Amino acid sequence: MPAPTPEPAPASVPDIYDPAFVAGLFDRCAANYRWWSAISSFGFTRTWRRQCVALLPPTGPGATVIDLMAGTGELWPHLLRRFPGLASITALDISRNMHLHAVDRLHRTRASRITHIEADALTTDLPEARADLLVAAFGLKTFTPAQQATLARQVARLLKPGGHFALIEASDPHGWALRPLYRAYIDHALPLIERLFLRGAQDFTMLGPYTRNFRDCTHMAEALHNEGLTVTFHRHFFGCATSVSGHKPA
Ligand SMILES: C[S@@+](CC[C@H](N)C(=O)[O-])C[C@H]1O[C@@H](n2cnc3c(N)ncnc32)[C@H](O)[C@@H]1O
Repeated sequence: MPAPTPEPAPASVPDIYDPAFVAGLFDRCAANYRWWSAISSFGFTRTWRRQCVALLPPTGPGATVIDLMAGTGELWPHLLRRFPGLASITALDISRNMHLHAVDRLHRTRASRITHIEADALTTDLPEARADLLVAAFGLKTFTPAQQATLARQVARLLKPGGHFALIEASDPHGWALRPLYRAYIDHALPLIERLFLRGAQDFTMLGPYTRNFRDCTHMAEALHNEGLTVTFHRHFFGCATSVSGHKPA
C-alpha cells in the first residue's frame, strides 16, 4: 500500500495583535495615512480628535503631554491650540515610518516641543509620573483586552497624580439603525477603494476586523478603573467612535 501523502502544513495565520505585525502594518500605511484617514472618514477623525482633546480640562502653562500611539501627530495641532503654553509633547509610537512622516513632512515647525520615542506602549520604560496630560487617538483597536489592561497600567503609571487622560477610538456602533450600512462601508467599500487606488494594498482594510473585535472603549474603561483612575465613557456620532477620559487621583 502506498504511503499516505502528508497533509500540507497549514499556512501560518498572522497574529494581528502581535506588536511586530502592527508596526509593519503602520510602516506600510505611513505615507498615505494622513489623507486616507481624513477622506475615508469624511472628516470625522479630525472632529473626533478635537473632541478628544476637549475632554481634557484647562491646564496652566508648562504642562507635559504624552501622546501614545501618536502616529503622524494628527493630535498635536489640536493640543497646541487648546494648550498654547504646553512645555512638551512626548510622542510614542511603535512604527518608525509613522514617526518619520510626522517629523519630515508634517510638523517640522513644531519640532522643538516634540520628543519622538519609537517604542511599544505596552512595554515602554518611560519614567513614571511624567505626564500632566495623556492622550491617544485611534491607537486602541489594535490591542486585545489583555493588552488593554497592560496599557491601562501604563496610563496610570505615566500620569502624575492629579494628571488627566483622554483616549478615543473608532468603534462598532451596535444598536444603531444604520450600523449595517456603516459595516458595509468599512468591510467592503473601503477595502475595494484601497485595492483600486493603492495598487492592491490591503492594509487599511484591517480597520474592519480591528474595529469589529474592539467593539468600543468599554473594556478600556474598566481596565483604567481597575488601575484606580476615575473614568467617564463617551459616545461620538451614534457610537461610531467612543472615548474615555478621567484623571489619576492626587
Ligand atoms: C491609527 S494610527 C493613529 C495615529 C494618530 N494617533 C492619529 O490620531 O491618527 C495607530 C497608531 O498606533 C501605533 N501603535 C499600534 N500599536 C502600538 C504599540 N503597541 N505601541 C506604540 N504604538 C503603537 C501604530 O504604529 C499607529 O501609528
